[in-house]
Amino acid sequence: MTVNPVSNDPPLLAVLKGERRDPPPVWLMRQAGRYLPEYRALRAEKGGFLELVYDADAAAEITLQPLRRFGMDGAILFSDILIVPHGMGQGLTFGPGEGPQLSPPLSDGKFAQLEPNPEYFRKIYATVAKVRAALDPSVTMLGFAGSPWTIATYMVAGHGSKDQAETRRLAYKDPVAFQALIDRIVQVTVDYLSGQIEAGAQAVQLFDSWAGTLSPAQFERWVVAPTADIVGRLMVRHPDVPIIGFPKGAGAKLAAYAAETGVDAVGLDETIDPAWADAMLPEGMPVQGNLDPLALIAGGEALESAVTRIRAAFDTRPHVFNLGHGIVLDTPIAHVEHLFELLRKPL
Ligand code: CP3
Repeated sequence: MTVNPVSNDPPLLAVLKGERRDPPPVWLMRQAGRYLPEYRALRAEKGGFLELVYDADAAAEITLQPLRRFGMDGAILFSDILIVPHGMGQGLTFGPGEGPQLSPPLSDGKFAQLEPNPEYFRKIYATVAKVRAALDPSVTMLGFAGSPWTIATYMVAGHGSKDQAETRRLAYKDPVAFQALIDRIVQVTVDYLSGQIEAGAQAVQLFDSWAGTLSPAQFERWVVAPTADIVGRLMVRHPDVPIIGFPKGAGAKLAAYAAETGVDAVGLDETIDPAWADAMLPEGMPVQGNLDPLALIAGGEALESAVTRIRAAFDTRPHVFNLGHGIVLDTPIAHVEHLFELLRKPL
């Protein structure tokens, strides 16, 4: 006999829609990738990261690899946030040890020569469809994109940077050109996420990895406003698909982000105190996070106490367990296994 009326949604999707589950559903940012030997083997065989991303069979296989080992509640599409600028016409390379490079950089924010090529995005939708078809119905398929601000920082500088100074300067110096670039990314991102949803993604995450370097007014303008724009347009097309916003480094600005963007759930990075987040965020709003990836590397008691602290803080709120940022390359697989054992136990 069922005591609590609960939806038939798989656990992760149910929590993103506002139901509470205990133990919490779990997935890990960057759960597919280089810490897994089976990923490294396939990457060596195919020759490079982009070769994997644009090969739907390979990308679907990589998406499923961590689920076979650990049994996550979510499968996140294996791709990259920089596929959007690539599909818009910027050159993209992942050189060994140097991080991604986009060329030519849009130093002046002018992007007139860039025209999206739907062929790039169709390959990604093919991966989503393949994964969804292979997934057990208890697992939720997650799509994603970068947020306009974070994508713009790569498009303008041509590479990642610690403080995004080049893009922040441009945003102050020529806000009209920069707004036009942001608007263009918003438009492409709405179509791109809709394509993923139509191919089978059941929820989507917006990664705003570089949200943390903006002053409050710039944060409102370049993070909150474009995110609200994307959320508003996606809600018209796909009202039942939850959107997770992950403004990494937002700190105290998280409360405004949660209240103003319209996202269904917020991802918390590891610098956010879970008890503070629980007190600050709107009642009943689902949260995701926020184990320090380095506590997972440490393992043992450090890992156990960090997990307990997070779960205890969210013991009345819908909570998706995750890391506060992507899993790190040298994470021991045994520690990931231990994390999953811990999470299956009641608090
Ligand atoms: O979460 C997942 O498992 C899904 C796949 C995924 C990747 N990148 C695969 C990847 C996702 C969601 C991303 C997001 C991403 N990509 C972000 C946002 C999240 C974050 O980490 O802040 C950013 C900023 C990028 C851009 C990017 N891609 C960088 C800076 C790098 C190089 C540094 C690094 O961490 O490897 C990448 C490459 C990349 N993206 C790899 C993978 C598995 C490594 C590629 C390889 O060498 O095999």
